[in-house]
Amino acid sequence: MERIAKVAVLRRRIDVARREGARVGLVPTMGYLHAGHVALVRRACAECDFVVASVFVNPFQFGEGEDLDSYPRDLEGDAAKLETAGCHALFCPDAEEMYPEGRPLTHVHVDVIGDDLCGAARPVHFDGVALVVTKLLAICEPDAAYFGRKDGQQLALVRRMATDLSFRAEIVGCPTVREADGLALSSRNAYLAPADREAAPAIFGALRVGAQLVTAGEREPRVVVEKIRSVLADEPRLDVEYVEARDARTIQPLARLDGEVLLAVAARLGPARLIDNVVLRIDGDSVEVEAGEIT
Ligand code: PAJ
Repeated sequence: MERIAKVAVLRRRIDVARREGARVGLVPTMGYLHAGHVALVRRACAECDFVVASVFVNPFQFGEGEDLDSYPRDLEGDAAKLETAGCHALFCPDAEEMYPEGRPLTHVHVDVIGDDLCGAARPVHFDGVALVVTKLLAICEPDAAYFGRKDGQQLALVRRMATDLSFRAEIVGCPTVREADGLALSSRNAYLAPADREAAPAIFGALRVGAQLVTAGEREPRVVVEKIRSVLADEPRLDVEYVEARDARTIQPLARLDGEVLLAVAARLGPARLIDNVVLRIDGDSVEVEAGEIT
């Protein structure tokens, strides 16, 4: 695997691969890789001939007082995991390489989709994500870019942005990878103290109860949300930020649960802010639940 820190070098390398007929895949990450990231890379390697994984802790998607400085980093460990997964290139630019003029004057804002849920709690977050993903897609011009369903609102936002801005890349959503007890893998799980780690699977547990209610026939969003809330309330360590049932593509509220629905939770647990979701595909009486995969 090649390790590349410069935009110009990466572009030249991708040009060579493309001239050889390669389908190019991109997996954007902020590093401190876990099995969820690795699953994205493996999927990309199965579907593409030349796969670039980026590791860049993007400063502009962190708000004032958030965890930019303490965000966990381990580039050597990341490189080893990517190599094992079959990744062809690791793109690891520094902030100066990505933002040579400092704070960008150009903004990428996706209306509506990014405005509430995580966007309400983290006002600059999705503009920062949209900007850096736009830059990575402009640099790599991949045929496909891989994102986790774990960040369901981010996936919806990236999909819409890619359509609105006519990016070449197909945006591929991949299942959430979970620990044996259901906790969704996250680089931020590293912040959890042992007692918080024990409490953390309650989030997925509550989402499952919500999904079961829908499978049993409930179609009223408020009833499902209240049920999830009541299950979460059994875990006193959790400080719940939101529980929502939304259209998975538009992240807008639904009068009744139908089509592709995102049941989403955000909660604070000690110093960590955890998010998780399940996707329901509802068609009349039939409900397909996508909850992800245990590692
Ligand atoms: P990061 O949190 O490092 O996640 C990188 C990618 O891995 C995202 O697409 C995310 O949804 C996916 N991912 C994280 N945990 C996962 C899990 N348990 N199962 C499956 N996929 C998972 O998301 C970001 O970085 C950044 O916002 C980024 C898109 C890189 C822009 O900076």
